[in-house]
Amino acid sequence: MSTEPPTERPASRGNLAELGIERLRSRAAEDLVRTRERSAVLTDSVDDDDLVQQHSPLMSPLVWDLAHIGSQEEIWLVRDVGGREAVRPDIDDLYDAFQHPRSDRPQLPLLGPSEARSYVGTVRDKVLDLLDSTPLEGRRLVDRAFAFGMIVQHEQQHDETMLATHQLRKGAPVLTDVQPPSASEVDGLAPEVFVPGGPFVMGTSTEPWALDNERPAHRVHVDDFAIDSTPVTNAAFMRFIEAGGYEQPRWWSEDGWAFRQRAELSAPRFWRRDGDRWMRRRFGHVEPVPGDEPVMHVSFHEAEAYARWAGKRLPTEQEWEKAARYDPRSGRSLRYPWGDEDPSPEHANLNQRHLRPAPAGAYPRGEAPCGARQLIGDVWEWTATDFLPYPGFNAFPYREYSEVFFGPDYKVLRGGSFGTDEAACRGTFRNWDFPIRRQIFTGFRCARTPRAGEFG
Ligand code: AVJ
Ligand code: FE
Repeated sequence: MSTEPPTERPASRGNLAELGIERLRSRAAEDLVRTRERSAVLTDSVDDDDLVQQHSPLMSPLVWDLAHIGSQEEIWLVRDVGGREAVRPDIDDLYDAFQHPRSDRPQLPLLGPSEARSYVGTVRDKVLDLLDSTPLEGRRLVDRAFAFGMIVQHEQQHDETMLATHQLRKGAPVLTDVQPPSASEVDGLAPEVFVPGGPFVMGTSTEPWALDNERPAHRVHVDDFAIDSTPVTNAAFMRFIEAGGYEQPRWWSEDGWAFRQRAELSAPRFWRRDGDRWMRRRFGHVEPVPGDEPVMHVSFHEAEAYARWAGKRLPTEQEWEKAARYDPRSGRSLRYPWGDEDPSPEHANLNQRHLRPAPAGAYPRGEAPCGARQLIGDVWEWTATDFLPYPGFNAFPYREYSEVFFGPDYKVLRGGSFGTDEAACRGTFRNWDFPIRRQIFTGFRCARTPRAGEFG
């Protein structure tokens, strides 16, 4: 009999970009199953009444997300990839995100909880069947199981959105944390690291499941910069509040100050002052704000104001990706800060494994070559950059994933949060949102341009 303790799963699942066709096929099947387990946790943990309710005008009822997941899977996999007969052609419009804004969705004649569950189950059975028999090369949509990977990522993105709905939900906690994330190991960790100027390769042309906005790989020159080793903590952000940061327009952009006034901001969302301390609500638990965790639930505007107050700025998207991927020893760009291996629980806080970020300085095994930590997982990070296409961008397979969002209205977010699945997070992965958004699991780190001769 073995005395080895059982392990949750192998330390890392290898390197997706190097898997052969048959391994990609089994990885897609494994990811579809794992993803559906997560969707089930998020939708089975509340009662039917709760599922059909709207917890915030910013969000859909959870039952909309669930059936929308099935609808996209039906459209792309059952119909397009499989060429099979439609399951529910009558509901395409109800679950088309562009037809109905989130605020209107509760008024629609949506599938009820049991109908939605049986619908996504029916679609999934057809998809698993299809995955067994589809050649995974030739046609671009299925090449290296892309469409299956895209649908896994789509469901996982909605799972993170549903987790944000849970965070907005009032009432007693329904999600439980199994164990706290890794502890901080900050001994000897410098507060910021220096990245020398020079070229690096941004984006990817080889990652099998990379989405259109991450492509193609292209060389960019990035000047010298310094970047924080960890995301900005709650304790640091409290100092900004105590210094009157929310009261002084000089730290804010014009748009930022207008938003601060209009929304009457005075602290991150979900924080509340209680005597001489800050409390927060986290998935229904009310608890003191832990000083050592990355701050989250701040808008781009608050992040930008903090950075200016601190004498710094937000990193550009190019700086962020160079810090996360550039390996000066080889001159190559890595898939992740730690190398080319897919994430393991030792590398990063992902997969809704923990329902909170780890303290700043955790995950030394996830450190980037430049010395920065927690670039992947814990909290999404605001960058200073608008969401724009890379040179050579081609919309694929549909314009509504990325292309219709390009422009100055959205800021790029990088790195994923504790609520992001590893399938929907890589060194090249790009997320975006309006600069006023605060309900997402987003924080930031600061950067700055060094003075001449400041670093070696
Ligand atoms: C990339 C996270 C901004 O949730 O709006 C889901 C992902 N696109 N369904 C979103 C997405 C279509 C998207 N984000
Ligand atoms: Fe969607």
